[in-house]
Amino acid sequence: PPVETILGIEEFEEAADSVMSRQASAYYHTGALDGISHAGNKDAFRKCRIVPRVMRDVSRVEPQTTIFGIPSALPIYISPSSNALLGHPDGELNMTRGAAKTGIVQGVSYVASYPLKDILAEKEVMDELIGEKMGMVFQVYVREDREKNAEVIREAIEGGCQALLLTVDSNVGDHRQSVEKMKGTTGSAEEGRKFGPFTKFTHGPHDPRLNWKDLDWLKAVAGDVPIYLKGVSHIEDIKIAKEHGVKGCILSNHGGRQLDRARSGFDSLRRIHDQEPSITKEMEIYVDGGVRRGTDVLMALALGARGVGLGRPFLFAQAAYGEKGTIRAVRILENEIVTAMQLMGISKLDQLRPEMIECLQEVWK
Ligand code: FNR
Repeated sequence: PPVETILGIEEFEEAADSVMSRQASAYYHTGALDGISHAGNKDAFRKCRIVPRVMRDVSRVEPQTTIFGIPSALPIYISPSSNALLGHPDGELNMTRGAAKTGIVQGVSYVASYPLKDILAEKEVMDELIGEKMGMVFQVYVREDREKNAEVIREAIEGGCQALLLTVDSNVGDHRQSVEKMKGTTGSAEEGRKFGPFTKFTHGPHDPRLNWKDLDWLKAVAGDVPIYLKGVSHIEDIKIAKEHGVKGCILSNHGGRQLDRARSGFDSLRRIHDQEPSITKEMEIYVDGGVRRGTDVLMALALGARGVGLGRPFLFAQAAYGEKGTIRAVRILENEIVTAMQLMGISKLDQLRPEMIECLQEVWK
């Protein structure tokens, strides 16, 4: 169907499934083991309701903010994910173009299917086109060979990435049975729609030695570029991260793809709000996992998040419609965010208050 017929971002899934191979779309969909965390991410938002305010002038609404220190048109960003090529021949470049043209930040995966240099070159083209620097951040996986690791990170920084997201929930690889069954599937990058070229894109193993001391190494490599931890759940880890000079944390269970039964990012945010809400003032806190509507975004912001990331929706959108899909996904979310802000009686994001969100109390503690 034409891209204009897509009215909610979840509709991209079906559109993508119709052009992707069964294995490739399974790779996007899948969660770890029994998919408890994967399903739980969306459920977490369903447990909450909004208590709107009325009779406030909402003729002008400003949803702009900064994400990872970068000006952003909306409080959302493209969460880094691997293997965009499985869905579309332009892969991650669809996201680079879409993010630049809509003014949001693109998170680039350490294991992106396009070579990093090509993504950075596309960023340059986009910077030229929009007449300013588009927002791009680089996600880091730690490898045993720290020298090579550092080289990749330096390339990303030199190419204009403005922050590093160190993924900390993946000290070992994934736990996905469905993907396990697909290993060995062959096919070239160009044939990404028809084949699942997993073996080609699954770069080296993670380093299970990863620990807090590694932040000294990463800070030395990063220089002035701020570091955020992606994949934090426990409140103590946020505090330790702060002591180590980390700029912020992304509450996330990796889209339910790593530790099954890990609490959702949004539930972790609720827990922090109950226990020690001041943390969200001391550190930038982000959330990802299961965000599918503008109201999900605003509920997370009301409880103290600075922004939210979306993974699968952008993968499916580009798979089905390339760059146009990325842009459409952002426009749909923008429309939902603006309309929900108006109906909530909010004209600026900093008017959101935790009292405007009511949730069922069975938070996993
Ligand atoms: C991911 N994610 C991810 N995260 C990361 O830090 N590095 C990566 O390479 C990837 N790769 C990846 C591939 C695929 C196919 C998916 C679906 C996800 C996790 C991603 O950044 C994010 O945390 C989740 O996708 C958020 O959940 P939703 O929005 O997909 O529900």
